[in-house]
Amino acid sequence: MLNFSFYNPTNIVFGKDQINQLDNLVPKNAKILITYGGGSVKKFGTLDKVKEELGKSPRKVFEFGGIEANPKFKTLMGAVEIVREEKIDFILAVGGGSVMDGTKFIAVASIADEYIGRESELLKFGFRPIPVEGAVPFGTVVTLPATGSEMNNGAVITNGIDKLPIFSKSIFPRFSILDPILTFTLPATQVANGVVDTFIHTVEQYVTYPVNAGFQDRTAEGILQTLIEVGKETVENPTNYDARANLVWCATMALNGLIGAGVPQDWTAHMIGHEITALFGLDHAKTLAVVQPAIWKVRKSAKKEKLLQYAERVWNVKNGGEDEKINQAILKTEEFFHSLGIKTRLSDHNIGEDEIKKIINSLKKHGMTALSESGEVTLEVSEEILKRAL
Ligand code: NZQ
Ligand code: ZN
Repeated sequence: MLNFSFYNPTNIVFGKDQINQLDNLVPKNAKILITYGGGSVKKFGTLDKVKEELGKSPRKVFEFGGIEANPKFKTLMGAVEIVREEKIDFILAVGGGSVMDGTKFIAVASIADEYIGRESELLKFGFRPIPVEGAVPFGTVVTLPATGSEMNNGAVITNGIDKLPIFSKSIFPRFSILDPILTFTLPATQVANGVVDTFIHTVEQYVTYPVNAGFQDRTAEGILQTLIEVGKETVENPTNYDARANLVWCATMALNGLIGAGVPQDWTAHMIGHEITALFGLDHAKTLAVVQPAIWKVRKSAKKEKLLQYAERVWNVKNGGEDEKINQAILKTEEFFHSLGIKTRLSDHNIGEDEIKKIINSLKKHGMTALSESGEVTLEVSEEILKRAL
C-alpha cells in the first residue's frame, strides 16, 4: 500500500425527510445564501422545503438560482457579488454536482481578496491545490447522486472554453443531506449518468496496478457490484427507495477519498472526458462511458493484473485465457452501460474522426500530456484511445 493522508470532515445526514435537520445544521441568526440550478428544485418543491426549515430560526435568507450544468465562471461571479455585498455567513447548495461545484467556487472566490478582479485565475490550478486559505462555510442538499461532490474537496468549473478541476482543503462541505427521495424526480438519463459516473470514479482508482491494498480493492469491488445489482432497477423504477438509496451512498463513497487512499489513480477517462464536454457539450458521464472501454483496450497490457482481477472478482469471469477474460470484462462493462441506455461510442454522439484533433489540441493546451497512473498516456496514446472509441 502507498503512503497516504486521509482527511474528510463532511457530516453526512442520510435518509428519508432528513431535510428537517436543516434548522439544526445551518447557523441560526445568520445570513444565508441558497444556491440552485436551472429550476428543478423549484418545480419539485425542494426549495420550498429548504426555505421552510431555514425559516424556523431568525435567519436572513437570500437566493441565487441559474447555475447551469457544467457551471460557468461568469454565472458564479454573480453569486460572489451577493456574498460580498450582503456579507453572507453560510451558503447552502441545493442541487446536483454542478450546483455543489459552483458553490465551492463561490465559497472560495468570495473571500479571496487578493484575487479581486482576477478571480478567473483561481480556475487554472488543475490538480494543484488553489493557493487560497479558507472559504465561506457551506452545506449541501443533494438532488442528484453522481459526482461525490457532497463529500469531497474538488469542483469542476468552466470559463466557456476550458473545463478544469479545482481542489482546496477548504471546500469540503460542512454537511450534506442525502435524502434519496429528493432524487426520485430525476429523468432516467440523469440517473443512468449517475450510475456510470460513480462506476468510472471507482475504476479510475481501482483498475491501475496492484499495491496490495486489500481494503481499498474489496471496497471498490463492493461499490461496482452494488452498482451492477441496482443500476438498471434504479433507472427503470425510480421510486424503489432501496435501490436508489444504494446508488446515492455508492456515489458518495466512490469519490470521498476512501477508496483512493494509498492506491495509484488513473483519471485518464475524466481528463479526456472533460475536453469532450467542453468542446461538444456532451454530459459528463456520457463522455466517460465512451472513453473508458477504449482506454482499457489500448492499455490492456499495462493494466493486465488489475483488469484480470476486475474480470474475475467483479464480473465473475472464470473461463478462458487471460486475454479472453479481460475482453469479456470490457464487453460486460459496455453491455452494462447499454442496459442503462448509455452509449459507448463517439460516433453514437455524432463525433467523428475529424473532431479527434480538436480534443487532442485541448488536452495539449491544458498540459494533459502524461496522463494515467504511470504518466504514459501521451497525446499519441490519447489519440489512439479516441480512435478506438469511434
Ligand atoms: O439545473 P436544474 O434545473 O436543477 O436541473 C439539473 C440539471 O439539468 C437536473 N436535476 C438535478 N437534480 C434533479 C434534476 N432534475 C430533476 N430532479 C432532480 N432531483 O439534472 C441536470 C444535471 O445536473 P448536474 O448537477 O449538472 O449533474 P451532475 O450531478 O452529474 O454534475 C455534473 C458536474 O459535476 C462535475 C462534472 O464535470 C459536471 O460539471 N464533476 C464534479 C466532480 C467533483 N466535484 O468531484 C467529479 C465528477 O467527476 C465531475 O467531473
Ligand atoms: Zn466523474
